[in-house]
Amino acid sequence: MTAAGTFGYGTEYSQIFDIQKLGAIVCKGTTLEPREGNPQPRLAETASGLLNSIGLQNIGVKALIKEKAPLWAGWRVPVIVNIAGETVDDYTKLANELDGVAGISGIEVNISCPNIKAGGAEFGANPESAARVTAAVKSTTSLPILVKLTPNTSDIVKIAIAVAEAGADAISLINTLKGMYIDITTHRPLLGRKTGGLSGPAIKPIALAMVYEVAGAVEVPVIGCGGITAGSDGIEFIMAGASAVQVGTATFTNPRAPLDVLEGIEQFMKKEGVKDIAELIGAARG
Ligand SMILES: Cc1cc2nc3c(=O)[nH]c(=O)nc-3n(C[C@H](O)[C@H](O)[C@H](O)COP(=O)(O)O)c2cc1C
Repeated sequence: MTAAGTFGYGTEYSQIFDIQKLGAIVCKGTTLEPREGNPQPRLAETASGLLNSIGLQNIGVKALIKEKAPLWAGWRVPVIVNIAGETVDDYTKLANELDGVAGISGIEVNISCPNIKAGGAEFGANPESAARVTAAVKSTTSLPILVKLTPNTSDIVKIAIAVAEAGADAISLINTLKGMYIDITTHRPLLGRKTGGLSGPAIKPIALAMVYEVAGAVEVPVIGCGGITAGSDGIEFIMAGASAVQVGTATFTNPRAPLDVLEGIEQFMKKEGVKDIAELIGAARG
């Protein structure tokens, strides 16, 4: 899958490679109203990583349903809409709008965005509020729901158990880690919003450990994300217990990265004589 916020609405990449070959496309984080996002600068490159403070710039759910869903309805690849809000009510309204829309195959509930003032990661940092949002969305829609967790919490396993019990069909992790970059020439943080979310290869070992721990604690499928740039990274996450993986930041340097990861996984399976990916899921768990 593609990771939310790094692949637009999929349409932008359909000219570059055959996106229909992917497992799923997760689109940009979507809110009830359109958002312009945070002040610039919103991106900073770091050692083996990227800091962003985009702040959920998006066209809003109504335009998404009107302009993007009709295109998706003609695609073979399923599209999952990533949603974010500031209150539980925002999330249920979003789920309600998306329910039954042709072209939308699932909802990824982002309770983990570090780049907005209210809501977002606050829901994902505590098991009670994470469960409340999950249960509210689940009872509003017939679509499968993925709940996306934040690593910016003291115990991600507790949050994962809470959202699984509240009805999540799958759990995706991780979103970005809070980070900062200081411009020593101006003596100020470089990002307009001071802090941002760190992604890319720098976070892979952290994401992998979290996926390993969460996959050992819940029955629902786990979707691994964080620094995956090649098939071998994807295999690591699968061996840690993920049933699927998402590719994000890697797409900024290689637009074909999600397909390269998929093909790399297939090549590994061929080389090892593995017929079904299920044979590899959790293989590293002792
Ligand atoms: C520019 C940018 C925008 C992002 N926007 C979203 C978003 O809207 N919703 C979301 O759940 N995650 C968002 N993310 C997080 C990614 O989906 C992913 O969880 C994270 O970047 C870790 O994966 P990666 O290292 O492969 O990028 C964003 C990440 C980046 C770099």
